[in-house]
Amino acid sequence: MKKHILVIPGDGIGPEVTTWGKAVLEEIAAQYNHEFTFDEALMGHAGIEATGNPLPDETLEKAKASDAILFGAIGHIKYDNDPSAKVRPEQGLLKIRKELGLYANLRPIMLFDELLDASSLKPEVLRGTDILFFRELTGDVYFGEKTRSEDRNTASDLMIYHRYEVERIAKKAFEAAQVRGKRLCSVDKANVLESSRLWREVVQELAKQYPDVETEHMFIDNAAMQLVKNPKKFDVVLTANLFGDILTDEASQIAGSMGMLASASIGDGTGFFEPIHGSAHDIAGQDKANPLASILSVALMLEISFGLKDEAKKITDAIDKTLKDGYRTGDIADANTDKAKILGTQAMGQKVLEYLKG
Ligand code: IPM
Ligand code: MG
Repeated sequence: MKKHILVIPGDGIGPEVTTWGKAVLEEIAAQYNHEFTFDEALMGHAGIEATGNPLPDETLEKAKASDAILFGAIGHIKYDNDPSAKVRPEQGLLKIRKELGLYANLRPIMLFDELLDASSLKPEVLRGTDILFFRELTGDVYFGEKTRSEDRNTASDLMIYHRYEVERIAKKAFEAAQVRGKRLCSVDKANVLESSRLWREVVQELAKQYPDVETEHMFIDNAAMQLVKNPKKFDVVLTANLFGDILTDEASQIAGSMGMLASASIGDGTGFFEPIHGSAHDIAGQDKANPLASILSVALMLEISFGLKDEAKKITDAIDKTLKDGYRTGDIADANTDKAKILGTQAMGQKVLEYLKG
């Protein structure tokens, strides 16, 4: 198979982790006789530094011309502490999501048994958890109109959804539920928000077309609680952009660490694959970041964008073996971890490659 992949390392730990995602793609290409070609582009703070634009035109052009995109992370501490900054790294990510029509963000909560003790939650609560989040990605308060009064003392972000936006992601979530556990939980705040009442109405109507899927509706506050109380009760979770952003960070603790979660953003065209973690400037450049989320993002790319299921499984198996043999990055190490097996980013990436090579 011939594919052209754009790598956008981004900011902070992004470049360190995407290096390993790319290395794994190269190894898979060699083993399975695929021809993967690569290009690289700037986004976020890196884009601002080079061109003044968090999503340089060239990056967008390259993105549209590629078959899939591997992205690292975005953000810089400088902007986090400066709410008045007009140009912000995150604008690059939001713009590329909108421009590429990436309306569905899939975030699987995959649990490696070996990491049950790495979570702050009890292993017996976690064991057996397998959740697939469908987070809407191009609507909501993220993209609704923003205002600030002249005296700067009043601000608003419009929470807005159109029927078609809810419909298209709900369809994808129902279809996924049909081939998984056949349960779908739609999360909203319909007891308060009009946009959530539209959301619920649309999901209720669609549910009739999927009688084989057991559909449930849950308020976001309750869902946030249920997720840590009994995560096993969830199969597919469908939710809006902001709720999904928050819930999936919470859910990452089920998998032991933010450093373990990959995501796929899909929609009208090129798929976009990235860890759910941020740029983690506190550890950037120190060889401490966990590269597994980037490597797992590559597995999602192979499976979802290219339909290469065996290749994707080969990667998750290699990670499984790496963990089974006791290797950990700092974020997923626990009191029982052999100190000699706590690895940096590079060594962890190398280990996965070794297991991939068999
Ligand atoms: C995510 C991130 C982004 C979001 C930020 C960096 C804009 O938190 O992908 O979850 O809020 O969508
Ligand atoms: Mg987030």
